[in-house]
Amino acid sequence: MDDKYFGIVISDREFETFRELIYQESGIRLRDNKKDLLRQRLNKRIRALGLKTFSEYYKLVDEDRSRKELTELIDAVSTNVTSFFREIKHFEFLTGKAIPETLKRKKEGPFELRVWSAACSTGEEPYSMLFTLLEHEEINSKWKIKLLATDISTKVLQRAMRGGYPATKMDSLPGDLLKRYFDLKDDEYILKPKFREMVNFRWFNLITARFPFKHKFDIIFCRNVMIYFDKHTREELVRKFTGAMAPGSYLCIGHSESLANTSHELKYVQPTIYQKP
Ligand SMILES: C[S@@+](CC[C@H](N)C(=O)[O-])C[C@H]1O[C@@H](n2cnc3c(N)ncnc32)[C@H](O)[C@@H]1O
Repeated sequence: MDDKYFGIVISDREFETFRELIYQESGIRLRDNKKDLLRQRLNKRIRALGLKTFSEYYKLVDEDRSRKELTELIDAVSTNVTSFFREIKHFEFLTGKAIPETLKRKKEGPFELRVWSAACSTGEEPYSMLFTLLEHEEINSKWKIKLLATDISTKVLQRAMRGGYPATKMDSLPGDLLKRYFDLKDDEYILKPKFREMVNFRWFNLITARFPFKHKFDIIFCRNVMIYFDKHTREELVRKFTGAMAPGSYLCIGHSESLANTSHELKYVQPTIYQKP
């Protein structure tokens, strides 16, 4: 149904079907009050496709074997807010504890630091991790940095891979880091290619994917995404992370997230930081 003021309208039943699909495919649980948000965010897409109702759009998503439209749908509902050195405590923890410990633990080799930004959005998080590693005085040329950055949204991944950020959004980066890692072109800071190439960006769905990793991670950041998942989904995800972590490695989660009511095998270190025993 098309409404003169509100565009294409979504019924309660249609909202339910979308909500279930989004949950099954991404783990994101949309609350009742998100109906309007879903309607607003999808209106343009539905019109662009020449469709008239949410039900027609659902059918199209459901029948699209390439799953391209499903990705568009999840892109439309996910929140991608992020920034450089967001939640600075985690980066201080890397510098002061996680990195020195990992170097000690691996002193006989392999001389690789395996790090994962598991919901990397537009790249500020993995690049902040990269700068923290490169700036660390104990990391010398003997060490290889293996930095994986993944997200379910292809749009944010494209932006992350380009590595361009408006000058107005760089307040959290000290001037010397800006100079070392970026080129300023017009009003945009663009990551220098040799640093951009140090991060391996991949599309990855934390919910539906099996974790196919041959080597264990030393540090995982999974921040500000579990907040959208319910307890069961969170537990399953933490179980998969635990399986992918090396003994002694760390998992950092977002500031408003906690594993307090979630059953898991990790050791609590300090708020939002956990260690694999
Ligand atoms: C709010 S951003 C957090 C970015 C960054 N971790 C931070 O804390 O600044 C949440 C990100 O999680 C991604 N996301 C949501 N569901 C996901 C899933 N099932 N698998 C992988 N990424 C997901 C979204 O696309 C979005 O980029």
